[in-house]
Amino acid sequence: MKLINFKWQQLILSLGSLLLIIACKSFYPTNNLDAIPLRVATDPTFVPFEIQRASGNLEGFDIDLMNAIAKVAGFAVQFESLPFDGMISTLQAKRVDAAISGITITAERLKTIAFSRPYFKAGLAIAVREDNQNIKDFNSLKGKKIAVQIGSTGANFAKTIPNAKISTFNSGPEFFQDLLNGNVDAVVSDAFATLYAIKNGKLKGIKVVADLLTEEYYGIATPKDSPHLDAINKGIATLLSNGTYKQIYQKWFHAEPPQLPDSWHGTRGLGDKENWGQGERVLSSSHLLSSCPPVSSTPYL
Ligand code: ARG
Repeated sequence: MKLINFKWQQLILSLGSLLLIIACKSFYPTNNLDAIPLRVATDPTFVPFEIQRASGNLEGFDIDLMNAIAKVAGFAVQFESLPFDGMISTLQAKRVDAAISGITITAERLKTIAFSRPYFKAGLAIAVREDNQNIKDFNSLKGKKIAVQIGSTGANFAKTIPNAKISTFNSGPEFFQDLLNGNVDAVVSDAFATLYAIKNGKLKGIKVVADLLTEEYYGIATPKDSPHLDAINKGIATLLSNGTYKQIYQKWFHAEPPQLPDSWHGTRGLGDKENWGQGERVLSSSHLLSSCPPVSSTPYL
């Protein structure tokens, strides 16, 4: 009898401790996702979205935004510099958890990786040397020498220009230098980065022609089925509603941010030959030029 009592006591005790452990666990949830910092890739040659200072520090609109998302979502971020061209395959291989790098959401990219909700309204522009009088719109790019960044939406767009001779480069500073040197007639790349560089005086002798060629949206990229995407999306929504997004936008662009859609519905103008020469008047160049603040000591070229 005594022996049975003892066994019962033991059973009750161990059941009790088990219940206590379960109760404690649900009270203090241990979320492994939060414990390990998110490895976030970026190509810091895309001023003013990601800039690497001489000290090695990263700065820029994307960097501020990612840090703010991490803060509201409750995770830490560890940035890793990567060439833009390798970004998508690195995400696919899950060697990083996310990438923020002014990456345009496209249907093609969505086949292999996932994107957050749009966080920035952007578009492609044509840049030429200031003395160039014959490239005035997209039609006049036919047969011309054009520089683009490898793997970019600008590169895809340039491929659709009849008889264009395309030179590809790894980073913005390189293709603008080629334009300045007279090796190419034009650059097709993201309008904000181009206008920002011109405005900051680091790209003397270059101008942007015509209207924007496309309307694109940047998204934070993750591998498919990422366990972090939901937190990232909720973070963006929080920053949009609590005014932090606006603050970061004004810090870098001195302008009111445009309305962003909740989800991505496509890119306008890209590869759409019928729209050639008309341009997509999504943002006016003059608005951007007057709104870009200088980044002091940016080693742009
Ligand atoms: N928005 C363009 C694209 O997604 C170019 C982005 C370039 N970004 C960079 N960090 N170099 O293709």
